[in-house]
Amino acid sequence: MKIIKFAIPLCVLPLLDLQSRESKEYDNDVNYDEAKIPHYDLPKLLVTPEGKKITSTKEWNEIRRPQILSLFSNLIYGRVPEPSSPIKVDFKVIKEDEKFMKGKATRKDIDIKISNDIGNVTMRFIVFSPNDVKGPAPAFLKHSFNNTRSNDFDASPFRKGKLKNGWPLGEFFDRGYGFCAVYHEDLVKHNEVGFGNGIHKLFYPKGQSFPKASEWGVISACAWGAMRAMDYLEKDDDIDHTRVAIMGHSKMGKTTLWTAAQDERFALAISAQSGCAGAALWRRKSGETLKKMVTRFPYWLCRNAWKFVDQEDDLPVDQHMLIACIAPRPVYIHSGVKDTWADGRGEYLSAYHASKVYELFGKKALKSKDSPTVGEAIIDSHVGYHIREGGHSIESFDWKRFMDFADHHLKSK
Ligand code: GCU
Repeated sequence: MKIIKFAIPLCVLPLLDLQSRESKEYDNDVNYDEAKIPHYDLPKLLVTPEGKKITSTKEWNEIRRPQILSLFSNLIYGRVPEPSSPIKVDFKVIKEDEKFMKGKATRKDIDIKISNDIGNVTMRFIVFSPNDVKGPAPAFLKHSFNNTRSNDFDASPFRKGKLKNGWPLGEFFDRGYGFCAVYHEDLVKHNEVGFGNGIHKLFYPKGQSFPKASEWGVISACAWGAMRAMDYLEKDDDIDHTRVAIMGHSKMGKTTLWTAAQDERFALAISAQSGCAGAALWRRKSGETLKKMVTRFPYWLCRNAWKFVDQEDDLPVDQHMLIACIAPRPVYIHSGVKDTWADGRGEYLSAYHASKVYELFGKKALKSKDSPTVGEAIIDSHVGYHIREGGHSIESFDWKRFMDFADHHLKSK
């Protein structure tokens, strides 16, 4: 019998992984049926564990928000430990091209070197600033899956105004925005073998070789990296660091929420299809669950999170509380109809429940518990949202809505 072998090119493998989001392997005991969502009670946003009602923004800022952030830090994403030797962060512009995209923008490649007595890690940061904007430009900062050292960012691979990597840079520049990206794998590898050998090792005291149960996983490390990129932007005259929108898709959408919740320097946050450990509510257990996540990706969260597998009701937080920690800064959540693994309904509900805190600040937020119509974008609200047809990706429609949201909230600042 003749055996035909099919060779799968390596570059196709990541695509296969994404397509299999809803396939047999992971779909085993996954619920997608709204009728089978268990009954749940969300932890109260505006009541402390001692029973104190939070009735003012002062009480929110001084009492409840720090409590919630500390819970997410110690139980979900992991806290950044005190390093045993002081951390130094150096920035070096290694390349500057003022003629990027036929002179539309200036591209800067920056090495962010993080070092101490134990070692060093260098993260490449890429900053595009529109040349037409007088003074510092508002900008998007993307947590990126794309390697920012790749040639995809050269002017040559433009196809119909798009880069190979799918970032509509031309549209950003035309609308007066800069665009910046950090490549997370420079800091922390996302596989079990490499995890812990990047930025984490600079923070280990003598004798430690792995984060403790309450210490940072992958998502926390990436969030920390974006904050170092913001440290750089504070010194760059081409970008207005008071008008930076942090954004990311999927795992990076989760990271976006954790970054913005902690660091108030980010003026706005856009979290695309972040799902489990992102915008979606843990307690709905729809699509990906905590169990699925920590089984496949044990180090994205901290190890304390493992204790809540199948015990989500015991969590003192749910993800609406994370979104609420971004208030009063505008936040935008994006879902896809076919992206059931990310539980679009749970993403919306989370944003809806977080709205209470935005209202405490006197901001317009989500009023209806019902998800909006597919394709309708809620822009004119401090908690913005859209769900569109299709699956797990950022499409042109989404990019435009993100820019509309930023136009509405950042340009008027
Ligand atoms: C997997 C994972 C998701 C994650 C996604 C991604 O599908 O289960 O939680 O969002 O990968 O980062 O693309």
